[in-house]
Amino acid sequence: MWIFDLETQKFLAVNKAAVSLYGYKRTEFRQLRLADILGEEDARRLAKEMSTSGMPASLWRHRTKAGRLIEVETAVHEIRYDGGRAGLAVLMDVTDRRRLEEQLRQAQKMEAVGMLAGGVAHDFNNLLTIITGYGQLIFSNLPTDDPNRHSAEQIVKAGERAAALTRQLLAFSRRQVLQPKVLDLNMLVKALSTMLQRLIGEDIELRLVLTNDLGRVNADPGQLEQVLMNLVVNARDAMPQGGTLTVETANVNLDEDYARSHLALKAGPRVMLAVSDTGYGMDESTRARLFEPFFTTKTPGKGTGLGLSTVFGIIKQSGGGLDVASEPGQGTTVRVYLPSINQPVVTEDEVVHSASSPGTETILLVEDDEMVRTLVRETLQREGYKLLDASEPLEARRIADNYKGSIQLLITDVVMPKISGGALAKQIVGQRPETKVLYMSGYTDTTIIKSGLEQENSAFLQKPFTPHALAQKVRDVLEGDGRTQGARK
Ligand SMILES: Nc1ncnc2c1ncn2[C@@H]1O[C@H](COP(=O)(O)OP(=O)(O)OP(=O)(O)O)[C@@H](O)[C@H]1O
Ligand SMILES: [Mg+2]
Repeated sequence: MWIFDLETQKFLAVNKAAVSLYGYKRTEFRQLRLADILGEEDARRLAKEMSTSGMPASLWRHRTKAGRLIEVETAVHEIRYDGGRAGLAVLMDVTDRRRLEEQLRQAQKMEAVGMLAGGVAHDFNNLLTIITGYGQLIFSNLPTDDPNRHSAEQIVKAGERAAALTRQLLAFSRRQVLQPKVLDLNMLVKALSTMLQRLIGEDIELRLVLTNDLGRVNADPGQLEQVLMNLVVNARDAMPQGGTLTVETANVNLDEDYARSHLALKAGPRVMLAVSDTGYGMDESTRARLFEPFFTTKTPGKGTGLGLSTVFGIIKQSGGGLDVASEPGQGTTVRVYLPSINQPVVTEDEVVHSASSPGTETILLVEDDEMVRTLVRETLQREGYKLLDASEPLEARRIADNYKGSIQLLITDVVMPKISGGALAKQIVGQRPETKVLYMSGYTDTTIIKSGLEQENSAFLQKPFTPHALAQKVRDVLEGDGRTQGARK
């Protein structure tokens, strides 16, 4: 609380809380005028509002003795004090609350945009599977000298570009299937460094500051490579005249205070990956929007604005968080924090790919989208497989109950009406233990897929897929090379 002289705007009295909030001693306060705390302009405005309505605005920005700007909710009344006219101000520091509100708004916005993007991407993926799939079928059916071959090829190419875009949107909305592994980020950075150097050109110096004994993280290596690439490309673009680009790794322990001031972070031991540049930096309005999909300040054709959205989605889905520090003209540092785990890195056995052999097996296909189902059926029949197909789970059950021979593979959509793909697979495998399962989906509800993939002999194919990728995956699963299976001889 303050009391100040309405004529001279000098402080007459302050309470203890004001002393500790503003950092001035009582004696110092008495030497000050309102303008020393509000600034000349706001002090004039306050005086004017007091004299005209007696009801000044309630939110002000004050400066403390240390020079810190704080946001203050204020109520001022005119009183008599020592026989003169004075203002009694009751103040509350709302700086932290306002910042948290702003972060919450930001998080809610990202959540909403993510739902929208994920929903569109899902339906779009189904359509793209059909477009590129049939495009490819037409293309491969046309004789090499057919004038329409070129047109078909363009359709397939455009479809693939669109699929790449939808993949980024799915990444942003945290709906892609991650294949996490225990990783050493230093190894990942080193493995990419030659490529990164080539990417940024000769005018930019690449510095690696890698901490020894870096903690391990559990994340999808392909996705983390994408994170690093996106950050490095942004840093490069911010330094058109050249500069220094630093990639740093470190073990950090985020404390409660730091985590609380960054809504997306949690306290605890983290592995940090930071990309810094000495480029043109960002102003506040850019910083406020940079994770939004399609937000870009680059000229059309130079950026789509999906880079940081993808980074955001991947890191959040991997249980981590992000922090961006940037000022105009001061360069930018983006820090990625991932949970640190206590497990050794698993080195992978070399994957031996089988030559594609013609199919002879019987496959039960369940997919409610008729066009996708037809495409999958036709593709696999061309490979020589015998196909039984159903448009929904109950029909699939009936077919499985009545079919006399053995069914080597079940291919099923994950999200279906009535019974989920996972539940259907459980029922069918329960009766036919020899049957393997291949899930396909464009909408990757991770919990369903995770629980499905934990079953033995199952694998996952992300929509949209090309007929070639489908045939390859089916072969791999049948030959015991599916993602979650042990090798079978
Ligand atoms: N290191 C940086 N320095 C300055 N500005 C940056 C930096 N990184 C990102 N930005 C700003 O954030 C915006 C969004 O970045 P984002 O990576 O999402 O999209 P983009 O780089 O514009 O396009 P895309 O990554 O899809 O090619 C950029 O357009 C730029 O204004
Ligand atoms: Mg970018």
